[in-house]
Amino acid sequence: MTNEKWKIVCFEEVGSTNDVAQQYSSQGVAGKTVIRALSQTAGRGRRGRSWQSLQGNLFFSLLLEFAVEQSAKLVLASSLSVLETVKKFSNKADVCLKWPNDVLLNGAKVCGILLEKGAGKYMIIGIGVNVKQSPKSGDLLYPTTSLAEANIEVTPEDFLESFLADFDKNLQREFAELREIWLKYATGVGKEIAVRQNGKDEKGIFCGIDENGNLLLQNKNGLKKIMAGDVFFIEKKDE
Ligand code: BTN
Repeated sequence: MTNEKWKIVCFEEVGSTNDVAQQYSSQGVAGKTVIRALSQTAGRGRRGRSWQSLQGNLFFSLLLEFAVEQSAKLVLASSLSVLETVKKFSNKADVCLKWPNDVLLNGAKVCGILLEKGAGKYMIIGIGVNVKQSPKSGDLLYPTTSLAEANIEVTPEDFLESFLADFDKNLQREFAELREIWLKYATGVGKEIAVRQNGKDEKGIFCGIDENGNLLLQNKNGLKKIMAGDVFFIEKKDE
């Protein structure tokens, strides 16, 4: 990862900025590139879901040369940088990280991240930030919110600029340090959770993440490493 500056390309409307980033990667564009769009007609989310791309929000994909084996570092650096950027614009914001790559504001999802492998040596990190509004209906797995709903006033442009500076800084860190900082802001560590994979839930205690970014789940079957899934927190009812 070099110190070179990001080249930002902004489109009026695309299907998905991740798809445009894929095309760029197969053309072998040189250097670190941000593909941003003011609107997306086919925004994609994790695990085959769609991403509702509402007006005034921020949608972009980072395209960079990076080893696929180290992709956990990209995920941690991206979500942490979104969190730090939110804090920069509102230092009292109640913001935290949720495995694998969500950012929560006041307990609701404000940002989603979709990591994909590009052509050749490229990796693509697609990031959607609810700046002005958040979806309230449709196929939603979690409650959602926006920066504006939390009275955090920032333009998508200023958010992106600040994010890129934080991202470059965080990517310079060693993985162990990044993981330590990420865990400091992670929600649910030490608590009972359910991890949903292919429609099946597995319960256990969330014991943190390993050196590959896998979730560590402790239950009667032992300590299990989980590579992908959706996490739900289990509310304890007062006895
Ligand atoms: C998720 O939480 O499911 C991930 C959502 C990722 C959405 C962003 S918006 C910019 C980029 N383009 C896409 O089609 N998806 C990502």
